[in-house]
Amino acid sequence: MSNKETFSADWLRQREPFDTVARDHAAERLRLSARLRAVRPDGGVPWRVIDLACGTGANLRWLAPRLVGEQEWLVVDHDAALLQRWPERLALDGDNANFHQPLAYSGTAFHARIVRQQTDLARQLHTLPWHAAHLVTASALLDLVSLDWLQQMVGHAAAARVALLFTLSVDGRHQWTPKDPQDATVARLFQAHQRRNKGFGPALGPEAIEACRGVMLAAGYRVFSAASDWRLDGRAQPNAAALQCALADGMAAAASEQDPASERSMTAWRDRRRANATASSLRVGHVDVLALPPTH
Ligand SMILES: C[S@@+](CC[C@H](N)C(=O)[O-])C[C@H]1O[C@@H](n2cnc3c(N)ncnc32)[C@H](O)[C@@H]1O
Repeated sequence: MSNKETFSADWLRQREPFDTVARDHAAERLRLSARLRAVRPDGGVPWRVIDLACGTGANLRWLAPRLVGEQEWLVVDHDAALLQRWPERLALDGDNANFHQPLAYSGTAFHARIVRQQTDLARQLHTLPWHAAHLVTASALLDLVSLDWLQQMVGHAAAARVALLFTLSVDGRHQWTPKDPQDATVARLFQAHQRRNKGFGPALGPEAIEACRGVMLAAGYRVFSAASDWRLDGRAQPNAAALQCALADGMAAAASEQDPASERSMTAWRDRRRANATASSLRVGHVDVLALPPTH
C-alpha cells in the first residue's frame, strides 16, 4: 500500500487566510524580520531560499514580501499537480502584485524567481543544494515526518550553516467552543492516526515541534519559537465555519480509520460539528520555529 501523502489545492487555498493571520502573530513574537536580517546575504546577492513540501506556494506568498528584495526560490514537492500551479516568478513592484491570491501585505518591493522541482523528500533530501541556500523553510510539514528524517534534515542544514524556518506545525491542541462530549475521543484517535507513516517513517505528529527543537539545539542552532494558532470563529466569519467543517470531516474520517468500531459515533460527532459550525469556534494549536546557525 502506498503511503504517499497528498493534499488538495482546495484544502490549501481554504487554509491560507488563516495561516497568514497566524503567521503574522507568530512573526511579531519571533521578531522574525530583525532576526532574518542577521542571515541576509551581503549587498547585491539575492536571497536563496529552499521551500520544502511547497504545495501551491502559501509559504512563499507569505514570506517573500517579508524577505524583501531579490530572491531565488527552489520550491520542492513530490506532487506534480500542485507544482504545476506555480508561476515562474512572483513580484511586488509598487502596488502591482502578480500573486495568485489577493496580497494582504503591502511591504517593500521584492522579486522572486522560482525554480520548481518534483522530489520525494523522504528519499532525496540529500540531493538538494543545501550549501547554496541562505534559508531553508517549510510550512505545515513537520507533523508528517519521522525523527530519523528530522535528524537527517537538520544534519544537512547544520553542515551548510543555513538558517531554518518551519512554520504552522500542529501541536495537537484542538479547543472547540462549545464543547462536545466526543471531542476528546476524536482528538485521541486523530492524534494516533497522525503518528502513522506518511512516507517519512513513523510520523511525529503533534510531537514534531519538541523533537525539532531538540534536534536543532543539539546541532548548535539558536532556536526561537512562537505559537501560530488558527482561531476559527464560525460566528464571525463564514470561511472559518467552512474550515471547521473541513477539519471535522478530516478528523472524523481519520478517527474512524484508526478505530473502525467508532465510525458511527465519529460520524455523529462530525454531523453535530457541521451543524453547529456557524455557532462555534475552534482554536487549533500550531507553532513556528526559527533556527539560526551559531555564527549569526
Ligand atoms: C499540508 S501541505 C503544506 C503545503 C504548503 N507548504 C503550504 O503551507 O500550503 C504538505 C505538503 O507536503 C507535500 N509532501 C508530502 N509528502 C512529501 C514527500 N515525501 N516529498 C515531498 N513533498 C511531500 C504535499 O504534497 C503537500 O504539498
